[in-house]
Amino acid sequence: MVTLLFLFFCVLPKLSTSIPLVYDKIFSFGDSIADTGNFIHSGALANPVIGKLPYGETFFGHPTGRCSDGRLIIDFIAEKYGLPYLPPYLPIAKSLKSKAKHGVNFAVAGATALDAKFYYDKGIGGILWTNDSLNTQLDWFKRLKSSMCTTKQECDSYFKRSLFMMGEIGGNDYNYAFFLGGTFTDLKRMVPLVVGTIISATSTVIEDGAKEVVVPGNFPIGCSASYLTLFGTQNKTAYDGNGCLKAYNAFSKYHNAQLKLALEKLRQKYPHVRIIYADYYGAAKALFHIPRHLGLKNGALRACCGGGGPYNFNYKARCGHLGSKVCEDPSTYANWDGVHLTETAYRHIATGLLDGTFTSQPI
Ligand SMILES: *[C@@H]1O[C@H](CO)[C@@H](O)[C@H](O)[C@H]1NC(C)=O
Ligand SMILES: *[C@@H]1O[C@H](CO)[C@@H](O)[C@H](O)[C@H]1NC(C)=O
Repeated sequence: MVTLLFLFFCVLPKLSTSIPLVYDKIFSFGDSIADTGNFIHSGALANPVIGKLPYGETFFGHPTGRCSDGRLIIDFIAEKYGLPYLPPYLPIAKSLKSKAKHGVNFAVAGATALDAKFYYDKGIGGILWTNDSLNTQLDWFKRLKSSMCTTKQECDSYFKRSLFMMGEIGGNDYNYAFFLGGTFTDLKRMVPLVVGTIISATSTVIEDGAKEVVVPGNFPIGCSASYLTLFGTQNKTAYDGNGCLKAYNAFSKYHNAQLKLALEKLRQKYPHVRIIYADYYGAAKALFHIPRHLGLKNGALRACCGGGGPYNFNYKARCGHLGSKVCEDPSTYANWDGVHLTETAYRHIATGLLDGTFTSQPI
């Protein structure tokens, strides 16, 4: 009994910071990887096709504003904890009290980590799909918070069992820069800014009461049909054994390494908060390494929906536009529209996160 008590008292305080919570709310920030409908409600005009079929055809049977044929990683996470699919913030911004009981999704397709102003000041703002970058999403979060709780005690209690998903975000900062012709040297210079913005947003939600924050890294962009099409080369040594562009994947790894280092520092600053790195790169890599083993009969590189070409990605006839076609069975593809993944791919990634294989600590 004495031994048991001893164990109980010695072990419990440690466990309390390492056992995952049973969540009653999820708050999500990010871009098209997590957007469940903000972009199509935001009034932004770029890429309205995500509000039309074939987007949404697989699971929901109608477009929802998700950039996929069906569910996203965030939907599978909500399912796992028995929570409803996260409502997008914009359509419910006036009735948060009744509609955001189990959290809300602030992610916006096309969003950057850096403020839109950063791009406008450089004279390249025109390339942005949206101005609703991470700081705008944090402003929305502050508005939500003030409608849900007032005192620190109230807010701590409100957020006590919440899961925060800080991203994926930052991928678009690099996409826009690469697509505009930025070099690897230019892009590496952006990494500390992007990582700094993600870290500062993570600190903000922690100061506001978050106890558990998942911060995802970037995907292997060198395996993306859009990158493979735009940056394809005759030089065979530029490709790895999976057919992906090595230098672009190395860039994602570079960003992820910087992010992980910065998160380590953040953990020292907030030892009582669970700050979890989610390895989207590693979780997605299996899709490209063993696609057929995972039932992806059409491989992982070619897009299901697109306007032709070796990877079925044609910038002038992107999925949903005139001249594009959708495949018969999206579940046999990993790539949905050249840029985003299929529900099947997102399910694989979510499984790898939820079973702990690709997270620094269990979610
Ligand atoms: C973003 O902001 C810029 C500069 O303030 C503005 O010109 C542009 O119309 C905005 N774009 C969107 C999609 O709201
Ligand atoms: C081919 O690609 C490799 C790896 O990216 C690079 O080191 C090499 O310089 C390239 N060769 C040519 C001729 O461009």
